Formats: sequence, structure tokens, C-alpha cells
Amino acid sequence: MRVIIVKDYDRMSKLAAKFIADELRRKPALVLGLATGSTPIGMYQELIRMHKEEGLDFSKVITFNLDEYIGLPKDHPESYHSFMWKHFFQHVNIPESQIHIPDGTLPMEDIPAYCEWYEKRIKEVGGIDIQVLGIGRDGHIGFNEPGSSLGSRTRIKTLARETREDNARFFDGNIDAVPKYAITMGVGTIMEARMLLLLASGPNKAEAVKKTVEGPITAMCPASIMQLHPKAVAIIDQEAAKYLEREYEVDMG
Ligand code: F6R
Repeated sequence: MRVIIVKDYDRMSKLAAKFIADELRRKPALVLGLATGSTPIGMYQELIRMHKEEGLDFSKVITFNLDEYIGLPKDHPESYHSFMWKHFFQHVNIPESQIHIPDGTLPMEDIPAYCEWYEKRIKEVGGIDIQVLGIGRDGHIGFNEPGSSLGSRTRIKTLARETREDNARFFDGNIDAVPKYAITMGVGTIMEARMLLLLASGPNKAEAVKKTVEGPITAMCPASIMQLHPKAVAIIDQEAAKYLEREYEVDMG
């Protein structure tokens, strides 16, 4: 895994945006795998700035989001649909027909067939070029919680208590309001992307980062599978990198 340690959140965001912009200029019909959460917001802001000020063109881009809660209406403020439109899609020029976010409004019994369709759709467009990932404190990627099969595909997952506690901050601190299930791309789905771009910022992520980068590959830390990916880049700020013991690239901007 290529690890780049950066000064802070701002530098992490700008460097991540630059990775994507460089690829996009090389391949205008880039297929992007996207993440939600606090971590990539700064990266989206920088991509929006590049679109507005530098004419970075997203018109041929196809996107697939990693995950979505089950049971929230799409227009619920905390759905990942709302998140993506608010923080990215409404500010750039990706045609709506090229955007894919798992549909968490379907009845439970229809979701397995829908997940198969999602996988098929990714293959039809030639696979994901760059998959952006955040990391949970428990080492999850997407909503693949510890214990997830490292070969898993897009499916329904029960959220770990730790994840629901972490996300309760978005639901007025009320854990009971946080959905119990989500649709998520599987670890196997994620690993098929041609490049993985993991972002991590802040001291809360330091332990998960240590396990991911320097620990053994284990389903108990799903992000650790990235060690097997031929083109995985982790951009980690100093605070999230504080437990790393080996030498890495350093980019202080
Ligand atoms: C979001 C996702 C999650 C988050 C992770 C970190 O689409 O797949 O794995 O990346 O929970 O969340 P934040 O960035 O809010 O710390």
C-alpha cells in the first residue's frame, strides 16, 4: 500500500482531489466509486472548486456510491442520497443518469436482486477506476463491518453498534434513529476497483489506520485487505498516522 502522510485534513483533501483530477484529465469517462461521511467532504469541495474555477469536466463521469442506509427516504437529510447531492452532485456537471447510489427505499425482499443489478451495472460500464474510501473506527470500509467476508459482494449488512453510535451525531445524538441495516458494496466488490484511495483524518482513526497498514490481513479489520491490492493509496493526516511505526512518504504541502 502506498501511504502518504500529510499535515492535516485540508492537505489530505487537496491531495485526494488532485489524484482524481489527474486521472479525470487522462480519462474523461472515469468511473468513480464514492464515499460519504465527514472525511471526503473537503475533497468534494476541492473538486467543486476545480470544476468552477478550472473547468474540470465531469460530464462523462459515471459514479457508484459505496453504501446507503435501508429505510430512510431518499430526501431524508441523513440519507446518503441527500448527502451526495448536497456535498457534490448539485455542484458539478455529472448527468443524473450516470449517478448510482444504492436504493435503500426498496422492500427488504427486493434488495438482494437489486444488489445483483448494482454489481452487474458496475461491470457493464467497465469497472470502477478509482474507489474513494473512508475508514470506520472499527476498520470498516463501506459498511463492511468487522467479520465481513473479505470476498463479499454488494449486499445487506447489519451495522455494528459502534458505527451506529458514531453516526448518532447526525441523528440528534439519538442512536435509535440510526438505521440498523444498510446496503453496501462488498469487500470483494471494492477490491476489484483499479485503484483504491483511502482517506483518514484525526486521532479517532489512528488505531484503525495502524491495523490497516501495519496489522495482519484479517476480516476483523476489513480495511486491512487493502494490503493485497496492487494499487492502493492511503492519504493519512498526522493525527491519524500517529501509531504508524514504519517509514512512509511525507507530504507537508
Ligand atoms: C461512507 C462509508 C463509511 C465511512 C466511514 C468513515 O460511505 O462507506 O465507511 O467512510 O464510516 O466515516 P467518517 O468519514 O464520517 O468518519
